[in-house]
Amino acid sequence: MIALGCDHGGYPLMKEVIAYLDANGIAYHNYGTFSEESVDYPVYAKLVAHAVADGVCEKGILICGTGIGISIAANKVKGIRAALCGDVFSAKATREHNDANILALGARVTGPGLALEIVKAFLETPFSNDERHIRRIRQIED
Ligand code: RB5
Repeated sequence: MIALGCDHGGYPLMKEVIAYLDANGIAYHNYGTFSEESVDYPVYAKLVAHAVADGVCEKGILICGTGIGISIAANKVKGIRAALCGDVFSAKATREHNDANILALGARVTGPGLALEIVKAFLETPFSNDERHIRRIRQIED
């Protein structure tokens, strides 16, 4: 189950992400927002971050205008490793090396075609399970 959250800036891209998930039979829970009416991104960042940290959802996708504010807010929740990605290489690498559990996207930065390739890479790339990466992730939590 993928937890979804966005603010008004991220809403147009979130519609594209939802269409991608639907087309590929990927289950999600949408924590909102549900329109382009102005809202505060930390609200949605925390809903999704807690869903992932508590094990309700396996991973999350968060979108705001830049992806910056919503990733900063998500990373305040213990156990969350939210990665703002604007390219496919970073999306794969953050899964392999950081075991990132939330993908953040900037709807005003990254176009929908590239964003969906990033989503695909993020969802399909497993964590490497390499000892050195496990050690470094533990050090983040200390
Ligand atoms: C909203 O205007 C914008 O500030 C927000 O979507 C995001 O870019 C914040 O980091």
